[in-house]
Amino acid sequence: MSVSSAIGVRRSMKADAIVVFIAADKQEFTSVTKALIAEIPHVQPLISSGDFSGKRNSVAVAYTGSAASAPRIILAGLGDRSDVTVESLRRAAAAATRRAAQLKCRHVALELPVVKGISTEEAAQAVTEGSVLSQYAFDKYKTESKENGGLVTKFTVYTSDKGLQKGLKAGVDTATIIAEGVTIARDLANAPNNEIYPESLAKRATEIGRKAGFSTTVLDKRRIQALKMGGLLGVNKGSERPPTFIIMEYMKGPKSEKPIVLVGKGVTFDTGGISIKPAAGMSDMKGDMHGAASVIGTMHTIARLGLKKNIVGLVPATDNMPSGSAIVPGDILTFMNGKTAEIDNTDAEGRLILADALCYADRYKPQAVVDLATLTGACVVALGTITTGMMGTDDSLKNRLRAAAGVTNEYVCELPLYEEYEELISSDYADIKNSGGRMGGAITAALFLKHFVTYPWVHLDIAGTGISPKAGPYTPKGGTGVGVRLLTHMLRTW
Ligand code: BES
Ligand code: MN
Ligand code: ZN
Repeated sequence: MSVSSAIGVRRSMKADAIVVFIAADKQEFTSVTKALIAEIPHVQPLISSGDFSGKRNSVAVAYTGSAASAPRIILAGLGDRSDVTVESLRRAAAAATRRAAQLKCRHVALELPVVKGISTEEAAQAVTEGSVLSQYAFDKYKTESKENGGLVTKFTVYTSDKGLQKGLKAGVDTATIIAEGVTIARDLANAPNNEIYPESLAKRATEIGRKAGFSTTVLDKRRIQALKMGGLLGVNKGSERPPTFIIMEYMKGPKSEKPIVLVGKGVTFDTGGISIKPAAGMSDMKGDMHGAASVIGTMHTIARLGLKKNIVGLVPATDNMPSGSAIVPGDILTFMNGKTAEIDNTDAEGRLILADALCYADRYKPQAVVDLATLTGACVVALGTITTGMMGTDDSLKNRLRAAAGVTNEYVCELPLYEEYEELISSDYADIKNSGGRMGGAITAALFLKHFVTYPWVHLDIAGTGISPKAGPYTPKGGTGVGVRLLTHMLRTW
């Protein structure tokens, strides 16, 4: 894949298709299309027939004959100009690029749209993100036809206005690095358990860090034992494969600045354990390390962007298997900080491994901790696949995430952590129990985590948004890569 910015006019852009964004406002539409027809007469019938009117997300194709270097022009509707946002630019670019892919184009050149209220850099970033991310496909195991996606591999965003060159390049370059991070997260989340298990996940994180510029330390089972991470070891008990604890450090901020710690749930496969899940749909649980994937993808992106910050990523990794050695309901585990939990349901495993990671985060005396986890089916019931559940102890951190969600369209919605819910996870024998039953399940899971937190903290439940049953405008079915754009934006603007 290659992504670049260029200065040039639409007639002479060499590509398989050029993409021109057009707004629907009557007067503007008339004058813009008139100029376009003067240049490339072949678009005239699309306009005069009314088949293309600039409607939001509409696309139309014309063949340019000898009027332009590229054989095709794709018109992409922006809708009313006053409604254009960075998200609508992403979607328009994605729709146009998907159409180009249907036509078997390999190289698209997108003309930078100029929109009042959106900077050149933001517009360039949005168009690049939408276009590149729309071409993702997890097809590396397909030995033949890879037709369903990933056809466009070369992207150029261009403008004829030299004055915009700097902003254009900045936006395209930023988006390219963000898209790499999102792609890393999607690939990790989609990879099956026989490819991604705790040791291979750690190896992958190490390689990504070496290339991107963050350092990775992997704790093996012996060191996890030495740290008394009873949650991670407990969940791992049923497994043939040892756990890992992955520590990624990117310390490019001032020495005196406390780090921001990102924690990702790394359950590489969740069978439910002895409280085993039903067979239907269980393969989705290869994505139960999406939180980890999002953290690794974000670490890649912030390192490649060269942020001047101190950022740490932590991933407790294990699969959750049933076997003769597995934990069973009634067992009591002791975590790194000495607290105890009774196992009510071995399928509530995510909070057990996150508890130890949240204890470990304390070592960094962090200014803030955000954890991401495909934690509860209850969150999917509450918010569906569109919105991430947000719970936590710190309003300013929540506000930062809400602000980043507004820009990236990776929505978050807060659920409450009222202490009245606590009784649902009280145990007769231990400090707490690991399941509060079905009611308020996303909340009781977060309340469980809160017992291990000693710093400003937010938990993001991405069970619905991380693993999607269907494709979105620029997200695939399966692992979506959610969180990478959200966290990256939050950290860039911190
Ligand atoms: N990994 C699952 C949650 C999940 C469900 C993620 C659907 C993505 C899609 C988690 O480990 C789990 O099994 N949670 C249980 C908790 C319950 C036993 C308290 C659940 O949500 O049913
Ligand atoms: Mn589970
Ligand atoms: Zn799980």
